[in-house]
Amino acid sequence: MNTSTQALNTTVPAGRERPAVELRNVTKQFQLASGRTVTAVNDLSLTIPQGQFVCLVGPSGHGKSTLLNMLAGFTPLSQGQILANGEQVTGPGPDRGVVFQRDTLFLWRRVADNVGFGLAARGVPAAERKRIVDRYLRLTGLERYGRAWPKQLSGGMRRRVAIATVFANEPGILLMDEPFVGLDYARRADLYEVLGTLRAQSNCTVLFITHEIDEALVLGDRMLVMVGGEIALDEPIDLPRPRTGREITSPRAQELKAAVIARLDATQIQDEA
Ligand SMILES: Nc1ncnc2c1ncn2[C@@H]1O[C@H](COP(=O)(O)OP(=O)(O)O)[C@@H](O)[C@H]1O
Ligand SMILES: [Mg+2]
Repeated sequence: MNTSTQALNTTVPAGRERPAVELRNVTKQFQLASGRTVTAVNDLSLTIPQGQFVCLVGPSGHGKSTLLNMLAGFTPLSQGQILANGEQVTGPGPDRGVVFQRDTLFLWRRVADNVGFGLAARGVPAAERKRIVDRYLRLTGLERYGRAWPKQLSGGMRRRVAIATVFANEPGILLMDEPFVGLDYARRADLYEVLGTLRAQSNCTVLFITHEIDEALVLGDRMLVMVGGEIALDEPIDLPRPRTGREITSPRAQELKAAVIARLDATQIQDEA
């Protein structure tokens, strides 16, 4: 059970919950060495309710990672304000878990010690830590790999370890930047299931960046397309759950996909002009 959500539910009347995430007129500009200024995120406002799974797609270089890194607290804003569960974001925090595309496992720690690292750092006692680590190893299908070293695992298994690690910290908000890039379809499908199982247990809010529209349609509640540092499309992914992959061939799914592709194609034409 996610403790932060639990606490929220007991203190805030139903229907009056604070949004999980609020961005208010957020702008991020980078000053390049050449003196040129790049606006990566442009006056962007966005509200994400508690428990929503938001997928963010868009062409490369249009501000997706910058947005996620600001929300994670890694990148300072140029203008505007970001709130996570009503609190202003001023840096990284345990309320927000991050999974990147690149592998961030500690290669010199066994799988179980990777998964328990954040808990140990927060001073969670050993017995409690073991209970939590065992639970997340089981939920991610890694129960037999606790004593393995990361380099003994395949790419898909390592991604499972990264996911178990972030969920073991029970963040209310999960930020994922193209976490499944480079995996084949079967490995991805396994990970969709793992992610679904873990989310069903925790009810955390997710911001998930992907290049794959189909991936967004399988996972998400809401589709955002980001172009030129702004939200160019914001559509509910109102497909029935559980999603096995077949739902994404339905007429509604095809309609959504066509809307996203039309938006992306328009951008490509602008970029090439
Ligand atoms: N640290 C940085 N310094 C300078 N420019 C950056 C930096 N990070 C990102 N940018 C620029 O900001 C824009 C958006 O980048 P990014 O958020 O990584 O896009 P995406 O994740 O959509 O591919 C790009 O033009 C990129 O070159
Ligand atoms: Mg990126």
